[in-house]
Amino acid sequence: MASKGTVSVEVSDLRREFKGKGSPVVALDGVSLKVGQGEIFGVLGPNGAGKTTMIRILSTLLLPTGGWAKVMGFDVEHEPEKVRRVINMASGAEKAGYDFISAKKNLWFFSQLYGIPTATAEKRIMELSEMLGLTKYLDRKFYALSTGYRQRATIARAFVNEPKVVFLDEPTIGLDVMTARSIREFLKEQARRSERTIILASHNMAEVEAICDRVAIIDKGKIIAAGTPEDLMRSLGAPALVMEVSPPQSGFEMLSRVEGVKGFTASTEEERGLSTVHIVVETDAAARAAEDAVKREGLKVVASWRKQATLEEVFVALVGRGFKEREEQDVV
Ligand SMILES: Nc1ncnc2c1ncn2[C@@H]1O[C@H](COP(=O)(O)OP(=O)(O)OP(=O)(O)O)[C@@H](O)[C@H]1O
Ligand SMILES: [Mg+2]
Repeated sequence: MASKGTVSVEVSDLRREFKGKGSPVVALDGVSLKVGQGEIFGVLGPNGAGKTTMIRILSTLLLPTGGWAKVMGFDVEHEPEKVRRVINMASGAEKAGYDFISAKKNLWFFSQLYGIPTATAEKRIMELSEMLGLTKYLDRKFYALSTGYRQRATIARAFVNEPKVVFLDEPTIGLDVMTARSIREFLKEQARRSERTIILASHNMAEVEAICDRVAIIDKGKIIAAGTPEDLMRSLGAPALVMEVSPPQSGFEMLSRVEGVKGFTASTEEERGLSTVHIVVETDAAARAAEDAVKREGLKVVASWRKQATLEEVFVALVGRGFKEREEQDVV
């Protein structure tokens, strides 16, 4: 797999099983990748794909059950202290601060865990806060911050020790568009200017498309595709076909028999009395054939148009189904 310059994260045949009462769960099933210094690398996949497990192993919070991983040349299993000195991590899903002290004191407290001299820590906290639009809120107690500002503080914390590699697990989950955007800008800046490597686990395709240099799409613990978002989207062939079909349907199985259809995902809008189907096609001829197949079933195609492929459609092309359907399918 291509990567620019020095390798900062290397993962080889990484495996993690969880043993429970029933049969063991294979969360990671032989993942290999290389990430270069200064790269923003996305790990994209539906719920349960293994993203958090990978982030936890790379940030030394969990041991692998097979394979190995190195961060800045240090083995996560055998040299965890060395890894910890050069990394940091943050998760959008966790509450990451002490409620009854201010945002600033929270950041200062974490800086002290890294033994950063007070004056340096102060300066860094102010700089990070400025970049993240947090300055005005620094004196507020952590509990009194809105979700967005709490998340900005959590992100600032992940950069306070000037880490070489930062692991972020769903950093903008649940945030409004503007807050998510400013966090993404900050992350890009950190990678470009300060050459920090960022590994970002997400199931938000738009986020991954917007800021990641490269992405690995994972499903059931395996990488099913990797490359730049552009390359992955180009690999699909023709633009996707979107059809609005009436009356609403749940099954579009006829589409899987059409040559040149790589996969599809459907949703129903009861109020509008129709179903919307997104179809990944190899060629324009396949798009026409897909439309014909739907009509042959006696269904009405209310509207249809072509649109540029997205990363979700890359997933659909590989798995035959979308993220949502994949997630629902696994709920037993
Ligand atoms: N501590 C654990 N014990 C048992 N099973 C676990 C544990 N942690 C994760 N798993 C299982 O491993 C698989 C991968 O989980 P993981 O949290 O890595 O997925 P994810 O891609 O981060 O999903 P999400 O998008 O929901 O955060 C899932 O089947 C999950 O149930
Ligand atoms: Mg997760």
